[in-house]
Amino acid sequence: MKHVGAAQPHESARGHVTGEAKYVDDLWMRAHRAVHLWPVTVPHAHARLVALDTAAASAAPGVSCVLTAADVSGVNDVGPVRRDEPLFPSTVSFHGQPVAWVVAETEEQARRAAALVETRCEPLPAILSIPEAIAAQSFCFGPEHLARGDARAALDRCPERLAGEIGVGGQEHFYLETQAALAWVDEAGLMMIHSSTQHPSETQEIVARVLGVPRHEVIVQCTRMGGGFGGKETQASSWAALAALAARKLGRPARVRLSRAQDMTFTGKRHPFLGRFQVGFDRTGQLLALVLDLYSDGGYSLDLSAPVLFRAMFHADNCYRIDDMLVTGSVCRTHNVSHTAFRGFGGPQGMFMIEDIIDRVARHLGLPPHEVRRRNFYRAGDCSHYGQPIRDADRIERIWSELGASSEFDARWQDIERYNAENGLSKRGLAITPVKFGISFTTSHYNQAGALVLIYRDGSVQVNHGGTEMGQGLHTKVWQIAADALGLPLEAVRVMPTRTDKVPNTSATAASSGSDLNGAAVLAACETLTARLAGVAARHFQVDAESIVFEAGLVYPAGQQRVAVPFAALVEKAYEQTIPLFASGYYRTPDLSFDKATGTGKPFHYFAYGAAVSEVEVDGFTGMYTLRRVDILHDVGRSLSPLVDRGQVEGGFIQGVGWLTSEELTWNEHGALTSRGASTYKLPSLGDCPPVFNVALLERADEPGVVRGSKAVGEPPLMLALSVREALRAAIAAFGCDAPGRGGPRLVELGSPATPERVYWAIEAVRRHHLEAGKLPSTPLT
Ligand code: MTE
Ligand code: MOS
Repeated sequence: MKHVGAAQPHESARGHVTGEAKYVDDLWMRAHRAVHLWPVTVPHAHARLVALDTAAASAAPGVSCVLTAADVSGVNDVGPVRRDEPLFPSTVSFHGQPVAWVVAETEEQARRAAALVETRCEPLPAILSIPEAIAAQSFCFGPEHLARGDARAALDRCPERLAGEIGVGGQEHFYLETQAALAWVDEAGLMMIHSSTQHPSETQEIVARVLGVPRHEVIVQCTRMGGGFGGKETQASSWAALAALAARKLGRPARVRLSRAQDMTFTGKRHPFLGRFQVGFDRTGQLLALVLDLYSDGGYSLDLSAPVLFRAMFHADNCYRIDDMLVTGSVCRTHNVSHTAFRGFGGPQGMFMIEDIIDRVARHLGLPPHEVRRRNFYRAGDCSHYGQPIRDADRIERIWSELGASSEFDARWQDIERYNAENGLSKRGLAITPVKFGISFTTSHYNQAGALVLIYRDGSVQVNHGGTEMGQGLHTKVWQIAADALGLPLEAVRVMPTRTDKVPNTSATAASSGSDLNGAAVLAACETLTARLAGVAARHFQVDAESIVFEAGLVYPAGQQRVAVPFAALVEKAYEQTIPLFASGYYRTPDLSFDKATGTGKPFHYFAYGAAVSEVEVDGFTGMYTLRRVDILHDVGRSLSPLVDRGQVEGGFIQGVGWLTSEELTWNEHGALTSRGASTYKLPSLGDCPPVFNVALLERADEPGVVRGSKAVGEPPLMLALSVREALRAAIAAFGCDAPGRGGPRLVELGSPATPERVYWAIEAVRRHHLEAGKLPSTPLT
């Protein structure tokens, strides 16, 4: 392997920094006479739309038309899973929902005219939070159960028990490129769409549905996205459908591009979750039973909320074996925007719960949390609570001990105890948390992928596959895989923009499985081609086909490099011998199954593992904190592309830190989103990176049965950020006692995200507890 495993920069790295990399909205300037769309929105969270008067807007300068439900010749619905998302709604379901779209010569004209559209609404009662939805029994999915043993009965037998409620907030994707689409009817009469979508096939399906045409009339292309993070898995299709409606109606290219405030208002986020738990354990901290009820805020429509909920339920164990476990999940229907996929896809929320619970158990018992974590790890031979064997469970312990050593955890733990004993005004906290993340779409049949590889007579190659590039480096990995498989230099291979007319019926690029699936499909296509070409070469060299080597643009019998012929010459020979020079490749993940009725099976092909150690320092007057040092050891199998993988680990971790500490979504009492831009929604920036940030990929970690021994990397590192939250809790706890780890507070309740304010209130709570405890007599009164 020359290219696979080499530290290859991202294929568009140069374009990203020079600005030469083109995105969807860079294209309309080159489209002849493009029109622009602007939404008409309604300021109610829930209302009946009684009247919509477009006359004044239609007569405004530059306006071509106002799109309404009357323009839909197909189905007025863009729901990806359930048909519950009207493109032009007659009932408003979240605050600021668009109900019509003005089309004009310029964006400014469309914007001005949109203000002239008159809407009359009858407001209806709105449900704006999970507790309100539970009270009103407003659900769009569930309850679903995953159970092992009899958790309720086991709880009764446990020597120690705790119960509580844990809430975790959502997260805005804040991809740098907002949602965008450009559509035109091409010279063949086909609807050609450039879309910033993680799922071109679904965008094609939904555009065809709205237009009322077969899918072969629609082509969707995604060259690259300026980030997706799950936010463009299902929620890119509305804009494409709107652009297509306008393009068809007017016979002109049509462009939709959301402003940041529109994007934040119209598109779903990471699901907020509420967890109610009862946990039973013994005095050594061994977890024995867990009953966990999860509620997510799905928003007004189902979207991907069902599989997101399931992934949360599948990850409520993280790395811990709990013999009797009952996880119940429900998706609340509210009058919020429809929440959707976001890096980790429910997994982070599930793991958030169990990590929070473990810290409670540890403090209740006066044990160091890392010891309680380790005590509960899955061991070889164990199964998860849904019955999947944890084949390589020993890897958790291996990562834990390797990282413990490289981060000097024990020595620093003692240093910090000393620091905290000596400092009353600021305290430090250290925490280590593990990650186990299941890889595969839990809807088993999504785990398939296709590729189409073309060799031209000059020996140059085009690789098409079904995955999309959103910055995660999928095209770079595929490029490396294809070049190695064909024995070519990278320059000879071109990875093409993703198009639905090259590979049909693709899955979303999601679930971190982009390179597992598409990489394997491309490899299969390349192997078909080298097998054919080896036959040609074998005849030429008068040797067995098995002995033919493809390397560095040359082809030769093993050990006889001096007689090598250039790849291009062999290709020309093959052409003359009427050997086809293109091939499709296909891959499906083997042996997946999950039975929803029993809640058991093998939903994942394998698990990705990692662990992180984080150290924070917290100011006791303000709750302000700094992240002083982070050490990560993450398992990517045998890395396909170490620079790309390192970028994924670092970026995923920092994105997780943002979710857990600073990114706070706020809505007002009417259900209107008030955090609608970077000025009111605090994203982590370069200055928030820890000054010491040691990231290592686990060595000797080849994964059998995955392309080139690799493992998926896109989502799992996000959850390593839980170590930061747990480190904050450790520091907060230190404000409540003189000797941390012994006699500290029995509970650190920390709201999420852990902003300095919340940290401050948590410090106040432990101080209060400490004072009150201090007032108690040291011996019982009786
Ligand atoms: N990295 C970048 N730079 N931009 C992104 O949008 N999306 C993440 C992750 N890493 C994302 C990213 C998400 S949510 C997923 S599922 C995976 O990339 C998808 O790509 P993969 O399957 O090729 O890893
Ligand atoms: Mo990623 S949330 O699976 O797009």
